Amino acid sequence: MATSILPARARPAIPGPSDLALFSNLRKLQENQLHFLTHMARTYGDVVRYRLAHLTIYQVNHPDGAAQILQGNHKNYGIEGVPGFKTLKLVFGDGLITIDGDRWLRQRRLVQPHFHHRQVATYGDMMVQSTLDLMEQWRDRRVNELPLDMNTELSRLTLLNVVQALFSMDIKQDAAYLDKLTMELAELVSVRFANPLYPPLAVPIPGNKKFIALRDAFDSHIYRAIRQRRADLAEGREFHDLLALLMSAKDAATGEPMSDKALRDEICTFVSAGSGTATQALTWSFYLLAAHPDAEDRVRREVTALGNRLPTVADLPQLPYTRAVIDEAMRLYSPVWVLTRRSLEADMICGYHIPPRSTVLVSPYVMHRDPTYWPDPERFDPERFLPANTAGRHPYSYFPFGGGPRLCLGKDFALMETALVLATVMQRYRARLLPGHPVEAYTRAAGLHPRYGLLMTLHEV
Ligand code: HEM
Repeated sequence: MATSILPARARPAIPGPSDLALFSNLRKLQENQLHFLTHMARTYGDVVRYRLAHLTIYQVNHPDGAAQILQGNHKNYGIEGVPGFKTLKLVFGDGLITIDGDRWLRQRRLVQPHFHHRQVATYGDMMVQSTLDLMEQWRDRRVNELPLDMNTELSRLTLLNVVQALFSMDIKQDAAYLDKLTMELAELVSVRFANPLYPPLAVPIPGNKKFIALRDAFDSHIYRAIRQRRADLAEGREFHDLLALLMSAKDAATGEPMSDKALRDEICTFVSAGSGTATQALTWSFYLLAAHPDAEDRVRREVTALGNRLPTVADLPQLPYTRAVIDEAMRLYSPVWVLTRRSLEADMICGYHIPPRSTVLVSPYVMHRDPTYWPDPERFDPERFLPANTAGRHPYSYFPFGGGPRLCLGKDFALMETALVLATVMQRYRARLLPGHPVEAYTRAAGLHPRYGLLMTLHEV
C-alpha cells in the first residue's frame, strides 16, 4: 500500500470537526457513543478525522475501507497499542483478543480446529437442554404476570453454554454470581474505555479498587477450575474440550506447556468474548420480535412446523426466517459496535492518507445503518437477510463478526446457539415488553445492550 502514498502537499485534507473541539468531542462521545460515531459519519463522509483529548482518530465509514483494514491490508492494522489497550490487558492478559503478529497466529491456529463447524455442532443438544432448564425455572416464576429481565436471563444462559461447551464445567450453582461479576467488570472496562484520561490502576480511586476486587474474584474462580481440572486429570479422567487442547499445547521455542496464567488469560478471553455478544444478539431479537408481531408469528410458524419436538442442529436449514431475524437484530444492534486498530505504516484509505501509528475505527453499528447500503435503515425487516435478497451486497456493509483473519472465532458457535435458543423459546413462549419500560441501546465493552435491561412478560402459546 505504501506505493500509493502521496507527497504531503498533494494529500487531500481529511474532513472532520476542528482540532479545537478536542474536549467537546470527548464530552459528546461520552454522552452517547453511538450518536457521536453516527453523527461523524453522516456529517463528514467516508473517512473522518477528529481529536478526542490527546488522541487523533480516523473513523472509516466506507465498506471498502473496512475491507482494507480488516482484510486487504490487515497486517498494517494491529490491536496492540489501541486506546484502552492497557485496560483490555488488565482483563484478558495475553489472551487471543489482545495479542498480534506471530504470537496471535500461533495461538489462533492452535484453537481454530475446536471451532470447526462439525465440532461446534456437537454442542447443539446441550444448548437446547440448558434453554429447557431455564424455561422450567420460568414456569415456577409466574412469568406471565411478573416481568423478568430477558437480558439477565439470556446472559446467564449464554454464560452456562460457553463454559459448559468449551471447558466442560458445570457452573449452574454459581451462574448468577459469575454473570453479575462479569457484567460489573465489563461496566468498569467500558467506563475506562470511554475515558482516555481515566487514572491508571495504581491510583487508588474507588473505581480502580472495585475493578481490582472484581477481577481478583473472577480470577479466583478460574484458577480454582484449573486446579480442579488438574486433579481430575490426575485421577485419570479424560477431556476433549478447549481446555484440554490448551493444556496439551507446548511452546514452539521452549517445549513448555501453557502456564496457569496463560490458561487463565485464554479462559477469560473465551468466556467474555462468547457470552456477552451472543446475549445481546438474542436480547435484541426478542425485543424486536415483541415489537413486530407479524415477524414473531412467522418465526413461530417456522419453529412449530418442526413438529411436536425440540429443535436440533439438523433443523437449522429449515429455519431461514428465524436466522434472518437474528441477522437483522445484529444489523440494527450490532453486539460489537466498534472495532479499533492501530496503523503500523502509512496507508491510503478511500483516497485519504492515514499516517503511521494512527488510531483507526470502523463501526459495524454505523455501517449497518448507513442509508447508502441499507434502504430505510431504521426499519426492522428480516426479509433483507433471506437468501434471495442478499445478492450484490458489499460484504463489509454488514460485518457483525468482523472480518479477515481475525474474523470472530465463535461465529458458527454463536449463530447455532442463537438460532437454537430462539427457536426453543419461541416454541413455547410469546415475549411481551413490559408497557412503559424504556429501551435504549447502551455501549458496553461486552456488547451493545439495553441500558435499563429488557423487562418482559412471557406467555405460553
Ligand atoms: C453474536 C455473537 C458474537 C458476535 C457478534 C461476535 C463478534 C466478534 C467480532 C466483531 C470479533 C472481531 C473483533 C476484532 O476484529 O477486533 C470477534 C472476535 C472473537 N470472537 Fe466473537 N462474537 C460473537 C460470539 C462469539 C463466541 C460465541 C465466541 C466463543 C465461543 C467468540 C470468540 C471470539 C474470539 C476468540 C475472537 C478473537 C478472534 C481473534 O482475534 O483471532 N465470539 N467476535
